[in-house]
Amino acid sequence: MDLFEWQAKELFAKYAVPTTRQVVVSTPEQARQAAEDLGGGPVMVKAQVKAGGRGKAGGVKFAPDAEAAYQHAEAILGMDIKGHTVHTVLVSEAADIGTEYYFSFLLDRANRAYLAMCSAEGGMEIEQLAVEKPHALARVPVDPVAGVDRAKAREIAVAGNIPEAVRDEAADVIVKLWDVFTGEEATLVEVNPLVRTPDDRILALDGKVTLDDNADFRHADVHDA
Ligand SMILES: Nc1ncnc2c1ncn2[C@@H]1O[C@H](COP(=O)(O)OP(=O)(O)OP(=O)(O)O)[C@@H](O)[C@H]1O
Ligand SMILES: [Mg+2]
Repeated sequence: MDLFEWQAKELFAKYAVPTTRQVVVSTPEQARQAAEDLGGGPVMVKAQVKAGGRGKAGGVKFAPDAEAAYQHAEAILGMDIKGHTVHTVLVSEAADIGTEYYFSFLLDRANRAYLAMCSAEGGMEIEQLAVEKPHALARVPVDPVAGVDRAKAREIAVAGNIPEAVRDEAADVIVKLWDVFTGEEATLVEVNPLVRTPDDRILALDGKVTLDDNADFRHADVHDA
């Protein structure tokens, strides 16, 4: 089962993955209030649909203040994105972005193993990155028994060309994302973009999590959301 971005980011917060504060709403008035509750802006207003490419479809907008959040929510709610009607939007603090990275853990069924994918060139869709710049996308096998400790996380960050200045910080986040992956019995945990801020912090600004349907009964809290 695929989760919405807001659910993925709630899981990130549960495992102390650094991310932005957020409120999920379903009316423009609530979006304005959410922006005020988050400090008055700037915020991002983001369509919550289980489809990729929301930004390109006009479903991800920057709002400098609460009034702009109202207007963007009004435009985005009801929009159709790849056959999905937008019923809710996420209002989230807007972060200062230095660079956008790509990161994911996934179940590699063909090899009965796990795979970490990491790239210092994030932002664009992963399919496009894999085709246009395959060398820039590191694929690192993960031994399910050994898991991902700090050393393994550093190895993944190095393979993905994450710069030295933020490598330790990124490795910390990668270990926490592994905790999400195993703790929630996920088959996919993807962060695109994982960003480096101008002051060298690492933040997850988007999240895509797929849970293993065979483990549903152990995660009733998530599925009831
Ligand atoms: N909280 C945020 N603060 C600042 N910028 C953001 C934030 N969230 C998203 N963005 C910007 O908007 C872009 C698109 O956001 P996001 O990755 O969530 O959507 P998308 O990639 O278009 O959708 P999808 O992931 O469904 O394909 C990001 O690459 C980033 O530049
Ligand atoms: Mg994205």
